[in-house]
Amino acid sequence: TRPWHREAAERRLGRCVTVDDVERLARRRVPGAVFDYVHSGAESEVSLDRNREAFRSLELRPTSYGQVGDPDTSSTVLGRRVPFPLALAPTGYTRLSHHSGERAVAAAAAAAGVPYTLSTYGTTSIGDVAAAAPQGRNWYQFYVMADRAVSEQHLREAKAHGYEAAMMTIDTSTTGLKVKDVRNGFAIPPQLTARTFADLARHPGWVANILTTEPLRFATFPEGSPYGRWGMSNVLREQGLRPSDVTWLKEAWGGPVVVKGVLSVEDAIQSVDAGADAVVLSNHGGRQLDRSPVPLELLPAVVDAVGDRAEVYIDSGVRSGADVVAALALGATAALIGRPYLYGLMVGGQAGVDTVIDILASEMVRTMSLLGVSTIAELGPQHVRLRR
Ligand code: FNR
Repeated sequence: TRPWHREAAERRLGRCVTVDDVERLARRRVPGAVFDYVHSGAESEVSLDRNREAFRSLELRPTSYGQVGDPDTSSTVLGRRVPFPLALAPTGYTRLSHHSGERAVAAAAAAAGVPYTLSTYGTTSIGDVAAAAPQGRNWYQFYVMADRAVSEQHLREAKAHGYEAAMMTIDTSTTGLKVKDVRNGFAIPPQLTARTFADLARHPGWVANILTTEPLRFATFPEGSPYGRWGMSNVLREQGLRPSDVTWLKEAWGGPVVVKGVLSVEDAIQSVDAGADAVVLSNHGGRQLDRSPVPLELLPAVVDAVGDRAEVYIDSGVRSGADVVAALALGATAALIGRPYLYGLMVGGQAGVDTVIDILASEMVRTMSLLGVSTIAELGPQHVRLRR
């Protein structure tokens, strides 16, 4: 990024107090169809709204005589220290949000000391992400392909580049339908209509950056392969995953395996029985099955069922450090964020992701201080109440 662009981005970011502030600025930085692709939920967006509503209506219960000035937010994820129990969730097409894409996000995560997950539908290769964040804890998210030889190639590459964990997403037999994407004619490359042309014309800087950097494609697949092409994903992905696929991944990978997209106690138990070291309670940020359970509301029952055998993470709707603290109090080991870091990326590349992580970290410190807990380990169900 040219220096004056960076200065302008830093000025914008400096004015952001919350993740919602970052989101408001992000909306203006990218074409409307790109913002909609990131922001939208599936179908009627009921899950999208409920995810937020669950966090908002939750009550935090302080023990005021126990207040502390400088709580310690550090914890462990997959047995290794993190300054705060946060991880960055996998997102497809990250370079649409900003041309620096996955490299910038991975570098920001590495600088903060938290894990970053590269998506199978990432727009930067497995090796290029590792090179951009050599000290980072990089995780690789598997959409298992119908042709297992293709997924085995991903396994080998992720291993060769030092990725720490394999995350298998199990909630995407078919891609959830986002109504706005259809209306916007959202596609890669864009279908040029009067409408999409006008949208792009309002964002010449974004267009110039996209056109002068490497072509947008699913870069975890070899160049020229059909897997890299828009519209091919449903056809080539495994559409009926079973617990035996978790066992396959655990054996083939030989390291920590995380199963993402768990939405029932039964699926959590089956995942852990099959070899998962961690599960992510997630409704994909409300982007897959609409009206699916809200991960936050499911958390206590899942922690009860598998919490002594596996780590339980949560995502979908985390927008503040207080949200993270609430999830930890209900038994989560860590929280993942998706859209928040993409909004940061839209506003200012890596600096924007740094800002979002900083905002969440400082909110965590304030929340723990006011709640009266000095360490993550002290957080418990006594600190929260789910209001129904
Ligand atoms: C996603 N998500 C996702 N998940 C996954 O396993 N593989 C993927 O390729 C993607 N792609 C993707 C793209 C975009 C634009 C978004 C917003 C999300 C889901 C993601 O990992 C995570 O579950 C949600 O983003 C969490 O919800 P919040 O934090 O966005 O509310």
